[in-house]
Amino acid sequence: MNHEAETPRHVPVLLDRADELLGPALGEPGAVYVDATLGLGGHAEHFLRAYPQSRLVGLDRDTTALKLAGERLAPFADRITLVHTRYDGIADALSEAGLAETGSVSAILMDLGVSSMQLDEADRGFAYSVDAPLDMRMDPTTGITAADVLNTYSHGDLARVLKTYGDERFAGKIASEVLRRRAVTPFTTSAELVELLYATIPAAARRTGGHPAKRTFQALRVEVNGELDSLRAALPAALDALRVGGRIVVMSYQSLEDRLVKQEFAPRIVSRTPPGLPVELPGMGPEFRMLTRGAEKATESEIEKNPRSAPVRMRAAERIAAGSGQTQEGTR
Ligand SMILES: C[S@@+](CC[C@H](N)C(=O)[O-])C[C@H]1O[C@@H](n2cnc3c(N)ncnc32)[C@H](O)[C@@H]1O
Repeated sequence: MNHEAETPRHVPVLLDRADELLGPALGEPGAVYVDATLGLGGHAEHFLRAYPQSRLVGLDRDTTALKLAGERLAPFADRITLVHTRYDGIADALSEAGLAETGSVSAILMDLGVSSMQLDEADRGFAYSVDAPLDMRMDPTTGITAADVLNTYSHGDLARVLKTYGDERFAGKIASEVLRRRAVTPFTTSAELVELLYATIPAAARRTGGHPAKRTFQALRVEVNGELDSLRAALPAALDALRVGGRIVVMSYQSLEDRLVKQEFAPRIVSRTPPGLPVELPGMGPEFRMLTRGAEKATESEIEKNPRSAPVRMRAAERIAAGSGQTQEGTR
């Protein structure tokens, strides 16, 4: 049973902690809050209410999410700009919102992965617990589907996707079975794939490794949506957009995402002044300071309230010095 599908729709993950971390950057008139993963607008609604002088630029690649969030946030219509884009298009989205210069943003939230709405909409094909077309595109207007991946990838590419993005022990075996089966009938629905996985993953491994489809579905979703490439490109663009004093919170739900976040912060929180010099060289000090120690997890009570928060790993940072192309006052 997929517990995610049972979770109430509108419980934003780690909302209080996100507020503690981003709030100090949002008090000033005109403060810009970018929600890079708007989803159903749960976090966004909270920040719009809590910081009445702020404005929101909300991004999502899913047109349905944007429509639903737009309806939810209608009471704040004069303070919001919603943009249909992948989050690596953040710089263009900011231009569209009239914020072309780097260093104009006060707070950014990235709550990665799929939304409960996407999991609940059976015909999107994200959930392995219901039979549906094998689609899995977060942006249904473009790109390849999960069925395309299964029906066209080579054995090597398929096994790599399952192993790397799903950490699937039986990746090679599953890839062989997929190729054998598609030579007879191409895949169209999730039930066909789930049935193959039940037949391929040994019963003993099934008893200890959770639902046999969990890892394969995750891997296909990451591949179909280019999730890691999009995040890899988005993180530097997001950090560059922050003003001095601006803050960012990133919530990851799998270790590959969290590793990218950690790697992006690492060089920016250390000094580039050569060791041994008595003073920091101008422009060589750290650009950011971490607001979290390591990756923060949800507390037991948070997980009880909202089971979707169980896998979350949250990192947050504050810009403490201008980056290249910025001045301490703002933009150049
Ligand atoms: C976990 S949900 C966000 C939920 C939201 N914080 C709320 O309170 O309702 C993640 C959202 O990010 C969107 N998303 C995922 N990857 C994206 C990307 N590369 N670019 C833009 N949006 C993305 C998904 O479509 C989904 O709506």
